[in-house]
Amino acid sequence: MHCATSGPALNILHLEDSPADHALARLALRRAGVECTLQQVDTLPDFERALAAQRFDVILADYRLAGFTALDAWKLVAPLPAPPPFVLLSGAIGEAAAVDAMRLGMADFVAKDDMARLAHVITRAIEVHEARRARAQAVAELAASQRRLAELTEHLQSSIEQERAAIAREIHDDIGGALAALRFDIAWIRRHSHDPKLQRRADSAAETLQQALGASQRIMMNLRPPILDQGLVAAVQWLAANFERRTGVPARVRTGGEYIAVPPAVQLVAYRTAQEALTNIIKHAQPRQVRLELADSEGMLTLEVTDDGRGMAPAQRDKPKAFGLKGLQERARTVGGWLDVSSQPGRGTSVILSIPLPPAQSLVPAPRENLPDNTESTEGAPSPARAPAQASLPPAAPDAPGNTP
Ligand SMILES: Nc1ncnc2c1ncn2[C@@H]1O[C@H](COP(=O)(O)OP(=O)(O)O)[C@@H](O)[C@H]1O
Ligand SMILES: [Mg+2]
Repeated sequence: MHCATSGPALNILHLEDSPADHALARLALRRAGVECTLQQVDTLPDFERALAAQRFDVILADYRLAGFTALDAWKLVAPLPAPPPFVLLSGAIGEAAAVDAMRLGMADFVAKDDMARLAHVITRAIEVHEARRARAQAVAELAASQRRLAELTEHLQSSIEQERAAIAREIHDDIGGALAALRFDIAWIRRHSHDPKLQRRADSAAETLQQALGASQRIMMNLRPPILDQGLVAAVQWLAANFERRTGVPARVRTGGEYIAVPPAVQLVAYRTAQEALTNIIKHAQPRQVRLELADSEGMLTLEVTDDGRGMAPAQRDKPKAFGLKGLQERARTVGGWLDVSSQPGRGTSVILSIPLPPAQSLVPAPRENLPDNTESTEGAPSPARAPAQASLPPAAPDAPGNTP
């Protein structure tokens, strides 16, 4: 295909020191019906000036000129932000030189005694150039869109965590406070009544109250577990113990050490990953046993949650309305990590989180404002993993009336 005569005229820069050869090129293009403006220059400074002054659709260049070659001209063109296609239009230069020129990034080579090809070569060079440009633009747009998506995800995740911490705090302060006051009052009534019926009622109210306290503690723990302040190992052990208690399925935890120091953001990502993986196991897997492995070696934190349950086919994982695993993938990305899920129907599932750790990572306590007030702070030296702290609502109190927190 040749340049459409109806399209906009091509702007061509021709580096050529022979007026006769320039005229031949002009003639060849006219014969082929290529609408163009053709500007001739024959020195490097003029070539550079022309490039600076306007945008060209294509550059034609003789190979050998007075005191320089097309390679010198190419050195001026290649660094341009969007260099136009560069076509050698020259006498014989030998195959090796032509191949070298293409390798450098020049678009094509046309021999002067084969001028009839020129229009075709120019058209093709422009098409290839345009396709490359469009592809580069699409890649850049995709990258920008992925960056925006990642920023949005990070923002959403941190909003969710903040919101959770705020809700946990409110449950602690308002509901926890009210329930504690009720407990004092019920105990007071129990102590001061001599009617056995009333005493039984008070006992039953105290029992119901205990359940309500238990429920709000559970909710708070799920929202923002204070155990996280004791480090990732302790938090994962707590999750596993909880899982065992709820399901009766053994969940073994293996860790590289008693304490793994990671930045708070990484810790939260790892914790939520273990939490969702265990929730998935409860919902979908029906396993006989579960294994959690936590390790930091060679600058990489890995968390692996494996079950020997039903497993899944790839299509299940990508269900349109399931956001658990997809959410984990996005979460991992917010701290530079990634998630691998390996599974086959009938052969269990393994969810592996990998996060590169910063070189000199240290445990920074999670910001105080994100913690519910009942959270015990473990500032200072990292403590070894210990038994999960009891989530604490206001303590069971001696029954002094009116002693509300
Ligand atoms: N441990 C597992 N064992 C078997 N199937 C699983 C497991 N984890 C996830 N799946 C399958 O992958 C799907 C997607 O999981 P997920 O994204 O967490 O969504 P959801 O749990 O809300 O269904 C699940 O619906 C389930 O079919
Ligand atoms: Mg899920």
